[in-house]
Amino acid sequence: MSSARTADLWWKNAIVYCLDAETFYDSDGDGTGDLVGLTEKIDHLAGLGVTCLWLMPFFPTPGRDDGYDITDYYGVDERLGSLGDFVALVRTAKDRGMRVIIDLVINHTSDQHPWFKSARRSPNSRFRDYYVWQDEPQDDPDTGVVFPDAEDSIWSYDDQAEQYYLHHFYSHQPDLNIGNPVVREEMAKIAGFWLELGVDGFRVDAVPYLLETGGIDGDLRLDPHSYLKDLRAFMARRRGDAALLGEVNLPNDELVAYFGDEQADEIQMLFAFPLMQQIYLAFARQDARPLAEALRDLPAVSDASQWAMFLRNHDELTLDKLSDDEREEVFAAFGPDEDMQLFGRGLRRRLPPMLDGDQRRLRLAYSLMFSLPGTPVLFYGEEIGMGENLDIDGRLSVRTPMQWSDDKNGGFSDVAPSRLRRPVTEGRFGPLAVNVADQERDPDSLLNWMQRLIRKRRETPEFGWGAWDVLDAGDDAVLAHRCAWEGGTVLALHNLADAPREITLRIPQIDDGHLVDLLETRSTTHRLDGGRVDLKLEGFGHRWLRLRGSV
Ligand code: NOJ
Repeated sequence: MSSARTADLWWKNAIVYCLDAETFYDSDGDGTGDLVGLTEKIDHLAGLGVTCLWLMPFFPTPGRDDGYDITDYYGVDERLGSLGDFVALVRTAKDRGMRVIIDLVINHTSDQHPWFKSARRSPNSRFRDYYVWQDEPQDDPDTGVVFPDAEDSIWSYDDQAEQYYLHHFYSHQPDLNIGNPVVREEMAKIAGFWLELGVDGFRVDAVPYLLETGGIDGDLRLDPHSYLKDLRAFMARRRGDAALLGEVNLPNDELVAYFGDEQADEIQMLFAFPLMQQIYLAFARQDARPLAEALRDLPAVSDASQWAMFLRNHDELTLDKLSDDEREEVFAAFGPDEDMQLFGRGLRRRLPPMLDGDQRRLRLAYSLMFSLPGTPVLFYGEEIGMGENLDIDGRLSVRTPMQWSDDKNGGFSDVAPSRLRRPVTEGRFGPLAVNVADQERDPDSLLNWMQRLIRKRRETPEFGWGAWDVLDAGDDAVLAHRCAWEGGTVLALHNLADAPREITLRIPQIDDGHLVDLLETRSTTHRLDGGRVDLKLEGFGHRWLRLRGSV
C-alpha cells in the first residue's frame, strides 16, 4: 500500500525511538553507556523496525540536567565516546536503514559553558550579549518557572556580573539571547556542523521558551516564527530533507502556528501534547469520549507536516493541560502516591507500572499510539515494558539503564552495581522479570508483539498520511477512527473498558465491502451491510481493519 511519496517526506511516517547513549549499553565497563555500546546494539533497533533514532544530548556537560546543560556544542562528552564514535554510529545506523536526529538545545547553555563564564566576568566580554541581563528585572506574570521544586524566579542574580540573568529552567542553565544575531549565527553553525556529520535533523528543545524574553521589550524581542523560518531555511539549504521535531507544549490553537504558515516552513513534526494528555484521562475513566473529542480537535496538517504521537518520554508525564479535577482523576488512577507525582502537574512513572503490568492494557495503549494520525515516538525500554525506579530523584526515575538480560545490572554493564552511573530498576519491572533476551525467545512477549505491530504499521501508511475521522461505535468505551489515503482506508478500534463489547459500527460514505483484520493471527474478515458492521472486542481489546471491495 506504500507509495513512492512515503520515501520523500520521511518524517511523515517514521518510527522514532528516543534513547540516551548513557543508559543504553556500556561497552567499556565503566558503568556508563556509550556510543560504541549503542552501535553494538543497533540491530536490536533495526529488528524492532525503528526508522529514526533520536539521541538525547551527548555533548560535554556537568550533568546537572542530564546533559541538557551543555558546555560545548561541538563535542561528545568523553564519558560517552568521541566524535569518531559518533560518526561510526551514524554510519552504522544508516547502513541499517535508520536516520538519526539529535537534540538541539539552543534555549540555554550550562553556566559552565565558556561563553557564560566569560559573559559573567565582564560587561565588555564579547559573550555578554549572548545572554539576557537586567539590573532590576520584573518577573513577568505570564512566565512561570519550569521547575518549581528548584526555582522560584526566572531571574537569578550573578555576583560576578552584578546583574540578573534570565533562565527559564534551572538557574545553572542561563538562557541564550536569541535576539542577538551573533547567537543566531552560532546556532546555525552548530546545526550545520552536525548536519555535516550526517544527522538527519534535530529535536528542538524547549521551543516556546527559546524566544521568550521574560517580559523584556525592545531589541531582544524577536518574532519566534521568523527565527524558526530562518533556522528551517538554513537547514534546507544545507540538507534538503533534514527535519525538525519540536518540543512545544501548548494548546492546539497556539501549537499549530509552529508548523509555519501555508508553506509549512517551520517545524515539520510537533509532539501532540494536548492529545496525549487526553489519552490518559480516557484511560483513567475507561471512557473513549475525551480521546474522541481530542482527535476531532486535532488540527489537520499539510502533507509536509506531522504530529508526533507519544505516550511517555524522558520527562515527567505532564498533565498540565487538564483541568485540576481531571488531573486529580489521572493521579488517582495512575500515580496516587505523592512520590509518583512531580511539579504538581505530572507523573514520574513509566506506563507499565501505571497500568499495573496488565498486558491487555499495555497493548491497547501501544496499538492506539501506533494507529493515531501521526508519527509514533517510542522511549527506550517501552518495547519490553520497563518500569521506573522511584528511588531515583525527580525525572530521572524513568531514565534507568536499558534491560538487556537477567545478568548483572540487567546486562547493561559489567561494572560493580555501586559504580553504575544510575541504578537499574528493581522488582516486578526489573531485569529479572523484564528483559530483551527473554522476550526475544518468547513469541507472545511484548517485544515480539510490538515488532509485529511496527511491521504492520509500516505497511499501513494511511495512519500517518491519511485524512482521519472519528466513527460512531455506539459505545462510549470504544474509540473507532478511520484514516484514508490514496484510495486505501483503514479503521482502528480500541475498547478502553475492562469488559468485552459488542458494537455496531457505522461507516459513513461506505456501503459495502468487507473489513480485513490486520493484527489477528488468523485471517478474519467482516462483511459490511449498508455501511454497518457488527464487531466484538475483548476487554481492553483492539483491532486494525483494512477496507476491501465487495466479495
Ligand atoms: C526539555 C527537556 O525534555 C528536559 O529534559 C530538559 O530538562 C529541559 N528541556 C531543559 O533543557
